[in-house]
Amino acid sequence: MTSMEDARVRAAHLPRMPQRKLDHIPGDYGWPLLGQTLAFLRDYQGLVRHQAERYGPVHKGSVMFQRGVTLLGPEANEFVLRDKEHVFSSRAAWNPLLERLFTDGLMLRDFADHKFHRRIMQQAFKKPALAGYLERMNPRIHEGVANWPAGETFTFFDRIKSLLLDLGAQTFLGLDMGPRADRVNQSFIDAADASLAVLRVPIPGTLWHRGLRGRRFLEDFIAGLIPEKRRAATPDFFSELCKAAAEEGGLTDRDVTNHMIFLLFAAHDTTTSTLCSLIYLLCRNPQWQTRLAAEMDRVAEGMDGDGPGYGDLEKMVETGWVFRETLRLRPALTTFPRRTAEEVEFQGYRIPRNTLVNLSPLFTHYMPEYWSDPERFDPERFSDERAEHKGHHFQWIPFGGGHHKCLGLNFAEIQTKAFLFHFLRRYRVRVRDGYEMPVQLVPLAMPKDGLPVEIVRR
Ligand code: HEM
Repeated sequence: MTSMEDARVRAAHLPRMPQRKLDHIPGDYGWPLLGQTLAFLRDYQGLVRHQAERYGPVHKGSVMFQRGVTLLGPEANEFVLRDKEHVFSSRAAWNPLLERLFTDGLMLRDFADHKFHRRIMQQAFKKPALAGYLERMNPRIHEGVANWPAGETFTFFDRIKSLLLDLGAQTFLGLDMGPRADRVNQSFIDAADASLAVLRVPIPGTLWHRGLRGRRFLEDFIAGLIPEKRRAATPDFFSELCKAAAEEGGLTDRDVTNHMIFLLFAAHDTTTSTLCSLIYLLCRNPQWQTRLAAEMDRVAEGMDGDGPGYGDLEKMVETGWVFRETLRLRPALTTFPRRTAEEVEFQGYRIPRNTLVNLSPLFTHYMPEYWSDPERFDPERFSDERAEHKGHHFQWIPFGGGHHKCLGLNFAEIQTKAFLFHFLRRYRVRVRDGYEMPVQLVPLAMPKDGLPVEIVRR
């Protein structure tokens, strides 16, 4: 058996093995059966802070019917994500949630197999490719925000979700707006929503049934486009991935299809979450909204075309700070898992094989040891002068780190800046007096009420 096969087999078999005892690790399992699930869903930040205070940065717990160990802080993040010994399986941790809907996506692969696929996919994220996506995105964003209802209250979440879906169909698959894109978008939404389904039996009418149907449609649709994408290069991820797959070899059409479906998933809700949090924070901190609008005006003065090019985005320095500060305060993935493929030891604690290990970007991002006045929205902490985030390599981890670090982090920043350029050049945005956005923190940070806002033309 090759080492690649060995790694996949080791990880693939983990979930079916019995959970070993964690008696020697501090912590508790909460209520019988339910464990800490209710607190986890209701107030994840409160739960993780409380358990850390009570038991320390290494503690056991039980959420969503799974027992596991939470490891907190930059050292823990580094230990798990750098994973020098190749013992932390992403596949075994994520598969129970995502396997049927996002089969063999990059995050659901491990070790040598993962490295092989990641190297090929990276080609589609290189600078010239990103610059091409941006060029195509600009007019679509410009037109997209042009008819948002100025003077009325509307839910920002719905508008941005729909705009990002259109942009996704365009940048990932190369589709123009129309019935084809609508059907793809709906299938994608069905598959993504089904990843949260508790009841996983394919009974017609259920979330799960719709999700599997959506997945099948996407599979057929994407696989059917592969010959066309191979024939002629177009400025989209799909075309870039087909090109990279052909150049490097070793990727089947099925692999390409799986990667494309996973990419849509990895990109969409994370960016929707981030833009909702960012707009809310700009409403709560209008002085920053004014600063960013002024930055956009300055950039626009030196621009050649109607939309910012790659080089123009690099000039949006303060916007970059706001993006990073938003992701510190509200990382889209507030917590994420791994499963041990072998026994490991961390800070004197033995963690048995086949243990679920949870990391917490959210907890790390508020640690007073690493951040001054951590509750405060203070984008300048990311300036070159202060550079608070450089205290430890793993203290700011909204994009994860190490082997599985988000492949789309630059794309996410480009898309955010391009959206803010077109949006803030046209509108001021506000929330009603005294409004505080109610937020759901797991599985992804999202506004519970859709974030009602009002925009006015500048
Ligand atoms: C602000 C937006 C985003 C956030 C906060 C985010 C966050 C993350 C995080 C935390 C991970 C690592 C999960 C883990 O280690 O278990 C991840 C992985 C990934 N993300 Fe993102 N992401 C964002 C946007 C995107 C976009 C736009 C794309 C694609 C264009 C993308 C593609 C991926 C891929 C392919 C992986 C898997 C990498 C691997 O396993 O090697 N993400 N993302």
